[in-house]
Amino acid sequence: MSCFPTGSNAEVVELVDTQVSGTCGSNPVGVRVPPSAFFSSQYEAAALQSAVNIQGADEVKKKGRVAVLLSGRGSNFEAIYQNSLKQNANFEVRAVISDKKDARGLERAREFGLEAFHVSPRKLKPKEVYERKILEILKTHDTELICLAGYMRILGETLLSEYEGRIINIHPALLPSFPGLHGQKQALDYGVKVSGCTVHFVNSGVDSGPIILQKAVEVKEDDTEETLGQRILKQEHQMFSKAVTLFFENRLQIQGRRVIILS
Ligand code: GRF
Repeated sequence: MSCFPTGSNAEVVELVDTQVSGTCGSNPVGVRVPPSAFFSSQYEAAALQSAVNIQGADEVKKKGRVAVLLSGRGSNFEAIYQNSLKQNANFEVRAVISDKKDARGLERAREFGLEAFHVSPRKLKPKEVYERKILEILKTHDTELICLAGYMRILGETLLSEYEGRIINIHPALLPSFPGLHGQKQALDYGVKVSGCTVHFVNSGVDSGPIILQKAVEVKEDDTEETLGQRILKQEHQMFSKAVTLFFENRLQIQGRRVIILS
């Protein structure tokens, strides 16, 4: 199965679209507009201006639309959000959703002025009803990719089927080792010398979907769960956004269990 986001990258912001109103065709790349006095005719000037608008259109491609689901602190969400603000980012955070009303991540999202929602699994039962509500929010915000950033629930069929191949998760260990809760502690207790983090596509299992990216982190002799966790988290913050970027560059292709990163 290949997993390409729908519509992203190919679309152009409406404003630019109306500016060019169908005059495009082949346009020179890197064209510069000299003062209009240099043009032999008004028509030529208009044609070149139009070319520039098209070039501009290429540069302001619509960004990939991300929704983040979280249950707690939200440091991965913050990293994704901060990276989305960078000049060349190809994605934006459209909504943040939490199953926990008092999640710190939700509070931070509101501070950033983002659309932030608490959806209560306790009030919305069964799980299908709960996930339908989430789906409603995702749709309203034109979500193309869901990032699970410390979202402490296993996804049900409702979300999985609607967003198949478009949900990614981050885990604080080198999968398939140490899935589930407390990946850092599991690794430490087991005695591995190297642990790390993994971004993977989400399927119906626990941390068992096809792996997109992994980063190794050395376990030091005097590490505690906290010290190891901190070093892993630092890598998580970089890796998650990298995976999102690759996704919206249409460079992730799932082949069985493997995710091929296209060059
Ligand atoms: C991270 O360690 C992540 O790998 C795991 O849950 C933790 C969430 O941390 N899935 P934060 O809420 O992003 O700070």
